[in-house]
Amino acid sequence: METLVNSLKGKHLLTLADFSGEEITQIIDAAIELKEKQHNGVVHHYLKGKTLAMIFEKSSTRTRVSFEVGMSQLGGHALFLSRNDIQLGRGETVPDTAKVLSRYVDGIMIRAHEHSAVEELAANSSIPVINALTDDFHPCQALADLMTLYEAKGTFNKKKLAYIGDGNNVAHSLMIACAKLGVDCSIATPEGYEPKAEVIDLCKKVVSETGASLIVTNDPKEAVHEADAVYTDVWTSMGWEEEQEVRLKAFQPYQVNAELMSFANKDAIFLHCLPAKRGQEVTAEVIDGPQSYVFDEAENRLHVQKALMVALMA
Ligand code: CP
Ligand code: NVA
Repeated sequence: METLVNSLKGKHLLTLADFSGEEITQIIDAAIELKEKQHNGVVHHYLKGKTLAMIFEKSSTRTRVSFEVGMSQLGGHALFLSRNDIQLGRGETVPDTAKVLSRYVDGIMIRAHEHSAVEELAANSSIPVINALTDDFHPCQALADLMTLYEAKGTFNKKKLAYIGDGNNVAHSLMIACAKLGVDCSIATPEGYEPKAEVIDLCKKVVSETGASLIVTNDPKEAVHEADAVYTDVWTSMGWEEEQEVRLKAFQPYQVNAELMSFANKDAIFLHCLPAKRGQEVTAEVIDGPQSYVFDEAENRLHVQKALMVALMA
């Protein structure tokens, strides 16, 4: 993996704020290289003999399968650990879990509710910890999203991504990734569902260095104006189910449909981290239509996480 430098070796990925724009670019370049190898049947056992522990506190299809398949394609092995089936679910502490796993495996991937639990795990691990979604961030998703934008448009230069919907974990990580890579980003949410102020502040600081623009608005049409990619996510994330009814009402004007897409660039792509709720945040016409790249995006989770694991764990 000629494109990867050693600066990431042994690091954690808790949020993309931990990585430089150059490091993110290198991961995406390496992912494109690995994707080609995989598609051409070229063996690439960069993690031969290594093991990844995968702790899940929430459901998953893409993350679980892409990390597990990714490890086996890299010549390593992955262990699925449901929180409730290990002693963590019975009250063993996060630090003890981190220290024990560090004696057995070479990396830990964790999907958790509290971001602070992932920070605590990392602080007590002597091996890399990868955040595979918390209530606040989803950095692996953003890596795949930006990779998909790059493949579709051939460049990040002067590109704009518009995110419409909930100012959630996915929105936060996208904002950070765009800021770091110099991609213009506009976020439209209903009032009261904006991204966290600390994430906006962080991104403002980053864009003041990278020269990209960052707009946070309540107007979806303003956000998608001249966008090269239009992105949305579910209105009710895992853990917020009891707010579902209130959210259904609040988010109605934020549906990504053919009309809203018509305010973006003609050749804009549509992105969604999946799982999707057709008829809510996006119409079937858009997500199943010609502008949709959602399955390329899902596939890219595999390639970009393989590149990430090689960078951190090889
Ligand atoms: N996008 C994503 O993380 O999907 P899963 O919840 O299925 O892992
Ligand atoms: N925002 C969603 C993303 C799922 C991949 C959630 O947290 O449920």
